[in-house]
Amino acid sequence: MTKTISSARADFPILKTMVNDHPLVYLDNAATTQKPQSVIDALVDYYTHYNSNIHRGNHSLAALATQAHETTRGRVARFINAEHKHEIIFTRNTTESINLVAHSFGDTFVKEGDEVVVTQLEHHSNFVPWQLLCQRKGAHFRVVPFTPDGDLDLEVLDKLLGKRTRLLALNHVSNSLGTVNPLEIIIPLAHSRGIPVLVDAAQSVHHIEHDVRKLDADFYVFSGHKMYGPTGIGVLYGQEKWLEAMMPFLSGGEMIDQVTVDRTTFNQLPFKFEAGTPDIAGAIGLAAAIDYLEQFDAEELAVYEDDLLRYGIGQLGQVPGLILYGNPIRRSSILPFNLEGIQHYDVGVLLDAYGIAVRTGQHCTQPIMDRLGITGTVRASLALYNTREDIDALVQGLKRVLKMLKR
Ligand code: ALA
Repeated sequence: MTKTISSARADFPILKTMVNDHPLVYLDNAATTQKPQSVIDALVDYYTHYNSNIHRGNHSLAALATQAHETTRGRVARFINAEHKHEIIFTRNTTESINLVAHSFGDTFVKEGDEVVVTQLEHHSNFVPWQLLCQRKGAHFRVVPFTPDGDLDLEVLDKLLGKRTRLLALNHVSNSLGTVNPLEIIIPLAHSRGIPVLVDAAQSVHHIEHDVRKLDADFYVFSGHKMYGPTGIGVLYGQEKWLEAMMPFLSGGEMIDQVTVDRTTFNQLPFKFEAGTPDIAGAIGLAAAIDYLEQFDAEELAVYEDDLLRYGIGQLGQVPGLILYGNPIRRSSILPFNLEGIQHYDVGVLLDAYGIAVRTGQHCTQPIMDRLGITGTVRASLALYNTREDIDALVQGLKRVLKMLKR
């Protein structure tokens, strides 16, 4: 039986917290989501009953922990519909997953004079690693701009995907503007020219479609903590053919096959890319988060979140002097704005006095802020436990801020 969305709030104990004598209104979900009790319980259960290192011991706890960890890998593979479990590499987060590809794929496939294409809608974590790779290799770093509405300029993208392009890296949903990039157009276009695509799914995997085979993503990366799981666990999905061809990123224990003074050979996938003791508890917590998420009907959830976003856009439009950024063809979960003449940072601090949590600043997207000609925004970002009452509280809070500052 599917779970009703209206029952979700009760699953998140932190939502009962009072902040500055007000009930918490948590609208900073793009930074990190809150955790349901089932995820917290999975972590406590692991540390209470079967904490042990994995793949290394032959005792009972080691076997239990190893089995739980590897079951998790299968759980993630099913969640994103990967063909093989060994195409799932556990990392710390999205950033580490992208750095892994920038180094391992970059070292293997990108040469002097080649090109790597990203977009101006990227988080720094899907921008800087490629810029640095291009600097190391003497390759060209190409950036697809976005339109005033916040959509990628597909004509420029079309022109930039050329004979020397070795990879296109872009997000599915922008953390700063909420733009949903049309991967169903972009990925086939890149593939028609033999160019592999890395999808940063940190802001999309828990909101919209996440079937890697349907998307036909070559690489697909996301973080546990943004999808109701713990911090410290991230995922890199890579198609087997790429992962097999790539050199390891971090080296050390467990990623090896044979080590001699002359040379080292590497372990099979996925272990070739998992040096050192991984975040075992984090992976178990991530599986619990997937179990939690999959209790809901995906379509119902998408409709609920879309409706809430539209309600938010409508209500924010009622606040005098509020500038909402972007009007993309499709938007997901992100409401970026400023109050005319007021610093975004000040708005954030004043909202916090009413228990309302938002993020302010440039959101690790300076190229977006440069394009918009601003220093930052206030960003309200939504999750499945948010309600229209949360939006109403935000609007009320903003009106109080305006009154306080006599605007
Ligand atoms: N990438 C996270 C954000 O957008 C931290 O807030």
